[in-house]
Amino acid sequence: MATYTININGEDQSFTCDENMPLLWVLREVLQKTGTKYGCGIGQCGACTVHLDGNAVRSCVTPIDSVGEAEVTTIEGIGNAELHPVQQAWEELQVPQCGYCQSGQIMSAVHLLEQNPNPSDGEILDAMSGNICRCGTYDRIKKAIRLATQLSEDNNQLP
Ligand code: FES
Ligand code: FES
Repeated sequence: MATYTININGEDQSFTCDENMPLLWVLREVLQKTGTKYGCGIGQCGACTVHLDGNAVRSCVTPIDSVGEAEVTTIEGIGNAELHPVQQAWEELQVPQCGYCQSGQIMSAVHLLEQNPNPSDGEILDAMSGNICRCGTYDRIKKAIRLATQLSEDNNQLP
């Protein structure tokens, strides 16, 4: 066991856990941040996606020992003051079906738009290809990312 202090969604959180525990388990079981989901546990489905210093990572295969001073952002840290354009678009187009994969989808979509504010359809498909949706909401996800780019542009044009 070891004691860690990790910055999560802008706040330092201290806790004790096994050095080999994946970040996903820390988030869900130790810190009760259950917005991040457990799908496959082997880095293949994207349900557990969070941001580490702005990079989208699979928290199920990220050992807590490797996080260090990196800033962790989870779905709970997106759109606190007001909904993020990605969340607005998700809501407007009613993207989720069962919802299980959706926090990971949103974290990947937010990361994509931070890297590339106006992606082509091909770039959207490419960036989102690691996020599996068993309900097949892929078409709505693509449309919502396109809508989010427009909403972001509109927001930036506000006086
Ligand atoms: Fe992490 Fe599937 S639960 S990639
Ligand atoms: Fe059900 Fe994606 S909405 S798995």
